[in-house]
Amino acid sequence: MKIEVILTPAELPALSQRDLGGTACVVFDVLRATSAFVTALRNGAAAIVPACEISEALEIRKQRPEVLLGGERHGVKIRVDGRDFDFGNSPREYLPEKVKGKTIVSTTTNGTRALRACARATMVLAGAFLNLAATAKFLRDKNFEEIVIVCAGTRENAALEDILAAGALSAILSNGKTNVMLSDSAQTALAAFEYAKRDLPGAVCKSENAVRLLSIPELRDDVAFCLQRDAFNFVAAMEGDSVRILK
Ligand code: MLT
Repeated sequence: MKIEVILTPAELPALSQRDLGGTACVVFDVLRATSAFVTALRNGAAAIVPACEISEALEIRKQRPEVLLGGERHGVKIRVDGRDFDFGNSPREYLPEKVKGKTIVSTTTNGTRALRACARATMVLAGAFLNLAATAKFLRDKNFEEIVIVCAGTRENAALEDILAAGALSAILSNGKTNVMLSDSAQTALAAFEYAKRDLPGAVCKSENAVRLLSIPELRDDVAFCLQRDAFNFVAAMEGDSVRILK
């Protein structure tokens, strides 16, 4: 098994052109897109449809009026023509009574773009610290030849929390295995995780995304929420145009 990590969103255009047959991609947008998606699914949402643009999300709702809209721009809920989207990107908004049975079309700055860049992969998973062990177990059991871990990042830059999640996943996948080859980027993520793992919240709190969220009173609790490890025991995978719980 070969593990590679896409460290920055600058690499996404090349990834979207690559032959990813036989490859499993795992996308991390820890703060907060993939954490919000797995939380919504855990709370009963039927599916999350990632859209790159606001216009695309609105077009989907035009075709399918029953869907709900979620996501963010500049970290806050999207408002178009005086109407708010149904959800922002805080996982704590996606409560069971609001999402049960619903399909949510979400557009975020980086997370949804990263998921869509993996379209050519044999399997695309939405990963988070919240479902890390379940995701790792699934990948180990399936024994994919190649795993590409995609760090969604922040705008055009690397995001520390995504790289730490990529390192944590690389650590589990390579633990005790002699047949796992880590690319230089995977070794970089693993080294960062090994350095930070004793105090993960302490390390993440200094990241650009966490500093931004911690400065907004109504969003500050998102940081601790998204860093909970293995709160959910399921795998979230793209099936067609949506992310769903893998049965
Ligand atoms: C993104 O997709 O860029 C994010 O998850 C940003 C955020 O939630 O603030």
